[in-house]
Amino acid sequence: MYDIAIISGDGIGNEVMESAEYLLDKLDINFNFSYGEAGFECFNKNGTTLPEETIKIAKSSDATLFGASTSTPGQPSPIINLRKELDVYANLRPIKSYKGVKSIKDNIDFIIVRENTEGLYSQIEYGDDDKVIAERVITRHASENISEIAFKLAKRRNNKNKVTCVHKSNVLKKTDGVFKESFYNVAKNYPEIATEDFYVDATAMYLITDPLNFDVIVSSNLFGDILSDESAGLVGGLGLAPSGNIGDENGLFEPVHGSAPDIAGKNIANPCSMILSTAMMLDYIGEKETALKINEAVETVVAKGKILTPDLGGKSKTMEMTQAIVKEVI
Ligand code: NAI
Ligand code: MG
Repeated sequence: MYDIAIISGDGIGNEVMESAEYLLDKLDINFNFSYGEAGFECFNKNGTTLPEETIKIAKSSDATLFGASTSTPGQPSPIINLRKELDVYANLRPIKSYKGVKSIKDNIDFIIVRENTEGLYSQIEYGDDDKVIAERVITRHASENISEIAFKLAKRRNNKNKVTCVHKSNVLKKTDGVFKESFYNVAKNYPEIATEDFYVDATAMYLITDPLNFDVIVSSNLFGDILSDESAGLVGGLGLAPSGNIGDENGLFEPVHGSAPDIAGKNIANPCSMILSTAMMLDYIGEKETALKINEAVETVVAKGKILTPDLGGKSKTMEMTQAIVKEVI
């Protein structure tokens, strides 16, 4: 029996979470679900975007599933704060091309390892009307930690056996100086893994011109965030981009996308990012075989090309695509 916290959030977060729950219900594994609120609607109801009760539920579960939240003016981001509360310092964002989906190149297969607890996501901003300052916190501890995760992952993937460090140390000399130095310090312990480092602007181009170059990309919080949406765009969009936030004690799994107000309420959101995130969660709690099966089921349904949501060129609804995927799993 696994205790799973479910935080749907806002907009399509609710729609894709229904898909995840439908899938989990059909599996031959016992789960005990606890539900937590977070986000814009939660703020309107409770006066906070992330109630203590939600944090408690997430902390005491074996793993947490998060949908997406709409940002609330003047209020902190619930997902950033939840990541901090759970100390899930590594945000893993796998990117791969799928047969049947338009991709900039076939056989793209890399993973972005994004530092999750500091950088420009400190949410520390101050100043007056004329001058405002955002703090970009980079510590040696967190930088070495995230590099360690990236090298371990490159070793485990045994793919191109390479880690690319992405930074902007020519301008952010101190902060990204520490980030880059930490990366090469950790690299010394992994002589079998190749290393390279690029500036973030050049990386944004290389991802388009030479995406097959990449295996594991490690970067700070904001750069990792921006590059992961770009990378999702290389392989068919945000509908196919899952993520896992991992720490020593907790795992928090969520699609890369947001609450997508432009399509919310229409039941046409692609459920795959959430379903693939659920597979990452199952892998994390130890249900590796089921996780693999789910990944294969998504591949099969997408390759068949018959039951697809509009973002992938089809006409199906969220739940129709979900049911097609679940049919392949069970
Ligand atoms: P978004 O990721 O919600 O949407 C960007 C574009 O991708 C939209 O055109 C949307 O329709 C499309 N899209 C996203 N997910 C899709 C799916 N599953 N199927 C089909 N199409 C999909 O980003 P946007 O529009 O910049 O932000 C909307 C809201 O979400 C904002 O309030 C933002 O702050 C919030 N947000 C929340 C995140 C989170 O909770 N982790 C992450 C990113 C944004
Ligand atoms: Mg993002």
